[in-house]
Formats: sequence, structure tokens, C-alpha cells
Amino acid sequence: MNLWAPLDPKNIQDPFPMYAVLRQKAPIYKSQTGEWIISRYADVKEILKDPDFKSGNKLEWINRGITYFKNKGEDLSHIAVAINSFLLLINPPEHTRIRKFINSVWDNKEVDQLILENIDTLLNTKKRFKTIDIVDDFAKPLPNMTICKIMGISISHYERLSVLSNNLVKVLNLYNSFKDLVRIDAAAQSLISLFKELLETKKNNPGNDLISKLITGNDGEPEPLSDEALISIFIFLFIAGQETTIGLISTGLLHLSQHPDQLKELIRKPELAPRAVDELLRYDGPVHLLGRIAARDTQFDGQHIREGDAVTLCLASANRDDQYFENPDLLDISRHPNRHIAFGSGIHFCLGDWLAKRQGTLAIGKFIEIYPKYHIPDQTPQWNDNLSIRTIRHLSCSI
Ligand code: HEM
Repeated sequence: MNLWAPLDPKNIQDPFPMYAVLRQKAPIYKSQTGEWIISRYADVKEILKDPDFKSGNKLEWINRGITYFKNKGEDLSHIAVAINSFLLLINPPEHTRIRKFINSVWDNKEVDQLILENIDTLLNTKKRFKTIDIVDDFAKPLPNMTICKIMGISISHYERLSVLSNNLVKVLNLYNSFKDLVRIDAAAQSLISLFKELLETKKNNPGNDLISKLITGNDGEPEPLSDEALISIFIFLFIAGQETTIGLISTGLLHLSQHPDQLKELIRKPELAPRAVDELLRYDGPVHLLGRIAARDTQFDGQHIREGDAVTLCLASANRDDQYFENPDLLDISRHPNRHIAFGSGIHFCLGDWLAKRQGTLAIGKFIEIYPKYHIPDQTPQWNDNLSIRTIRHLSCSI
């Protein structure tokens, strides 16, 4: 019997029963497509921390695809340039160096004011309306506007950047057709030229924003990164927190509306918002699946994983493991401690967790403060059919 069907519409709608069966019957499961599916908390965490399970050969694989198409006269080389220094796709020692560099210059973590201004702008424009779409009108534009301000990008670029980054991020999907790749390459080309222009402008006239700090910090490095590498870093920092934060805010507001007792408690005690956000990340965080490649043969819980095997780690399943969490299927906004792994673990642990949590806390907190009686009529909304990053398409809501 096949226990792993991530594309089955039933599992797209609600994957948790599938995860529960896996945890119980086959926690290290070889899927029909050959990859290993890991669903228990302890195992997922162990693999995330094990240097012999690498972030994968995606970069190499994409570069091979690009060479293949080049031989057929199709140029997709912008993709390779754009993603060349994506932290998620690289391994030590290059990964360690770039991560350390970003951390050393990204020192201003006081973001509340600018997030609140953005929330105000978005919700104020909706004051005259009786309904809003939580995804389109709120969760989608907010992270984009915030990262624009952090990086020192004019807000007038934000809609264009949103479309381009949505197209480029698809490069991280497991499968892409040639048509997809052409669209991704076009987005990569536009993003490169946009960020190149920003690089030149800020080189001549640095500000107090993240892009300027990365440029100035890089100049002071013993072996500075190339402009190409810097541009790839800008692009990744821009796109890494988009879809994920959209998921946190919209899925979070959906689950709260489905748990009126928890919503009422949060309205009564707004100081619980940071814990509520951690609980929403544990209960149904936006990143359900991560991929790794085994770098050597290994025995894992009695199964023989071979060098080169692909491994899929189910973060969302691990976060519902009753061996680790008490009453894991219960949404409890006061849960503490709450050592979920919605942001991963080990060397690739999310670099923007603090920003995601602040943005989630302020967005959800403000939304329920302004619209405490919000009502979502469709309690089974359509989910995007990608379990790796699980987000809702639209979420109409009466306010
Ligand atoms: C709710 C929102 C978010 C979630 C659930 C999330 C989740 C994750 C996860 C699970 C990883 C690890 C991937 C892996 O191990 O393969 C990751 C990595 C990363 N995230 Fe986030 N993320 C969120 C928001 C953000 C934001 C706002 C930023 C800010 C720019 C960000 C930047 C990054 C970066 C740069 C990495 C790569 C780190 C590395 O490879 O060393 N994320 N994120």
C-alpha cells in the first residue's frame, strides 16, 4: 500500500492523516519514486543536524540542465547566475562564509515600527469594505513591503518584484518543464538587472539599508565576493521570506477562526501573540517538506540509506509527533515550551526566523484587534498544490 501521496488532492487539502499513518507505520519510508520519507521528530532533527545529509545537488542539477539546453541553442544562463549564491543551495565551506557575512552586517533587528506602518497602510485602505481577501489584500503584500523597506528598495517596485520573485522561486520546485524554465529565466534576468542597478546606485550613495550594508561590509572583507555573488544574495534575501510569511499569516488566521476558544483567548490576552505564533508555526507551519541528499551510505533506524539517495524531511509531521509534543493535534496558543522545527534546524536554520515571527505576531495581533469578529465563510479553502510550502490560494473574509 502506498503511504506517500503528496500530490493527491485529499492530502493537499489535509496532509496530517497521511503524516500520522507514516509516523506510526513506517517512519523511515521508501516512496514509490525512490526517495526516503522521514516523519518523526527525532529522526528529522537528527538528519537536519547531520553533515552527511547535504542540502543537495540542486545547483549542480540545474547547471546540468542549463548546459543541456545551451547545446540545443536555448540560453537559460540567467537562472544559474541568479541562484549561484542562494544559501539554501550551497554547502560548507562556502555556505559558512556567506552566512557569517550576512549575519555580521544584518544588525538592525528593530523592525516593529516599519512593519506596523505597513500593516496600517494595508488595513486602512480596507476600512470602507465589508469583506477582504486575507491572502491578496494583506498577507501577500505585507512581507514584500517590509523587505523592500529593510533592503532600501523603493516601494514603487514592490508589485513588479512580487511577480518576478514568485516566478523565480519556482526554481526550487522538484520538477520544472522547459516552459517553466523559460519563464524562470526571464524572471531571473529582470531581477538581476534590477538588483544590479540598485547595487550601482548604492555603491555611489550608500544608505542605512541592508543592501548598502552588504556592499560596504563586502568591501571590508579580506576576499570580497563578486558583484554577481552579491546580487544573488540580494535576490535570495528578497524572496526567502515571501511565500513563507504569507503562509504564516493567512493559514494562522484561518486556524484561529476554526478554533474560536483560542481566538477569544488571544483577543482577551494580546500578550500571548508571540506564543500563539509559535504554536501556529508548530500546528501547521508554511514549510512542510525539506529535501536532503545522503553523502554516504548509512544505516538509519534499521534502513539502509545509500550515498546519493534523496531524503524528504516532513517538518510538519515532526511537529505533530506525540513522542515529542503533548496533545500534538490540539492548537494551544499558550503552549510552552514549544520546540517546533518549523524553521528547520542545523546549519541551514532559517536566517529570518526573528523577522518572520515579528511580522506574524504584529500582523495577526493587529488584524484580530481591528477585526475581532472576522468571519471566514469557506472553511475548506483551496490550497496551492505544493506541499513543500503550503499556502492558501485566496481567503475571503467578512470583517
Ligand atoms: C514563517 C516564515 C518562515 C518560515 C516558516 C521559514 C522556514 C525556513 C526553513 C525551514 C529553512 C531551512 C531550509 C533548509 O534547511 O533546507 C529556512 C531557511 C532560510 N530562511 Fe526562512 N522561513 C521563514 C521566513 C524567512 C524570512 C522572513 C527570511 C528573511 C529574509 C528568511 C530567510 C531564510 C534564509 C536566508 C534561509 C537559508 C539559510 C541557510 O541556508 O543557511 N526566512 N527558512
